[in-house]
Amino acid sequence: MEIRPTTDEDLEVFVETVHTAFGQFPETPIADGGRWWSALEMDRGLLAVAPDGKPVGTAAAHSFELTLPGGKPVPAAGVTAVGVLPSHRRRGVLSAMMRHQLAEVRERGEFLAVLLASEARIYGRFGYGPATSTARLTVARHRAEAAEPRGAGAPEGGGPGAPDTPGTGSVEVLRRAECGEILEAVYDRYRRAQPGALSRPHRWWDLGAGQPPVSRAPRHVAVHRNADGDADGYASYSIGPVGDQNTLTVDETIAVDDAAFTALARYALGHDLVSQVVFRHVQPEHPLRWQLADVRAGEVGGHTDWLWVRLLDVPRALTARGWFTEGELVLEVDDPFLGEQGRYLLTVRDGGAECVPTDRQPDLSLDVRDLGSVYLGGTRPSTLVRAGHIRAHRPGAAMLADALFGSDLSPHCLHWF
Ligand SMILES: CC(C)(COP(=O)(O)OP(=O)(O)OC[C@H]1O[C@@H](n2cnc3c(N)ncnc32)[C@H](O)[C@@H]1OP(=O)(O)O)[C@@H](O)C(=O)NCCC(=O)NCCS
Repeated sequence: MEIRPTTDEDLEVFVETVHTAFGQFPETPIADGGRWWSALEMDRGLLAVAPDGKPVGTAAAHSFELTLPGGKPVPAAGVTAVGVLPSHRRRGVLSAMMRHQLAEVRERGEFLAVLLASEARIYGRFGYGPATSTARLTVARHRAEAAEPRGAGAPEGGGPGAPDTPGTGSVEVLRRAECGEILEAVYDRYRRAQPGALSRPHRWWDLGAGQPPVSRAPRHVAVHRNADGDADGYASYSIGPVGDQNTLTVDETIAVDDAAFTALARYALGHDLVSQVVFRHVQPEHPLRWQLADVRAGEVGGHTDWLWVRLLDVPRALTARGWFTEGELVLEVDDPFLGEQGRYLLTVRDGGAECVPTDRQPDLSLDVRDLGSVYLGGTRPSTLVRAGHIRAHRPGAAMLADALFGSDLSPHCLHWF
């Protein structure tokens, strides 16, 4: 089995192979490479080729930036288009591609890779751990009344469902042709501050004619502007029946701060002629539920893992992210897929971290996939200690790790790739 890099000339055979691996007809039309496919970086693709010359497996990577806790964007390989023909599965083709790809990611100087997993059993063995999760929030419009503002000095107006407060901003519905670069600029501001968010390269916006996400389906776009008239959030949505209810479905609500998010949620929840509003991608712990007078009115469903993280250089990864509590931990990290092991002293002081090899006794022993899961602050280390995945060698180590690995904002990713 040969694993070889792809070039632009391989696009057609690459896409046919992925189609077959995902159960589509290989000849599914791909005019111009297909909108989605033409976003691929073909110099980052891999083809697995059988001894008879037949391509049997594919993998690719996008050059993204991932925002870490503390609002630090770093280069990240966004692994995608992974597939092996049904006739050639369970013979190690994917394992060979993963090994090849991780080596290449390292060579490029990226210290982590990310992906969305079609099935949860596939990628742990290659060192990936689920690091962010997402959920669907459904609110019946007749129960969407806003919670009363509370606390000393609470602003008038309240949460979603309340009438708009004059002077605080406005919402405007844009036509496709009017989206221009507004959405791209808003998304870029949002993702730089949101841990777990990925950059969206310019060509993605070009492909979607400025509309999120990369999809042919028409969407309405509501843009929020602050009191100074600057765009600081948008919601893309469609309206149509879901079951027997006319439903407003928000694909993504992108906002640079909570005020813009609240205003857009208020807009959606106040929309006439729909009986429910579905926010397809929110953090499972999103404050929106707390902003409703009836805290049970927001039903959380479809809670699932989203972004998986694979660390390739533990000291670089740990020193790159932001830290918010001081302390010291010795981490013994096992990377069975790459056959590597390291013991590191992590010292967090004055808002920065040092991570150096050490001989000291470990506080925690963990697999690199579990370090990936806690890295963005979306999973508490103590949860994985309780699950039996991480070993804590002294009392208090898990609690300290929880405090250290916590993020300023809980991580979330809604980019699909
Ligand atoms: C997932 C897929 C790429 C795996 O390719 P493959 O060449 O069969 O994988 P490998 O032979 O290298 O498997 C390595 C190990 O992972 C296991 N594994 C692979 N896919 C698995 C799955 N879907 N569920 C559970 N285990 C899986 C294998 O059993 C094997 O275990 P072993 O080492 O203990 O024997 C292939 O099944 C596929 O194309 N599926 C459909 C498309 C898809 O889901 N792609 C992933 C997109 S994110």
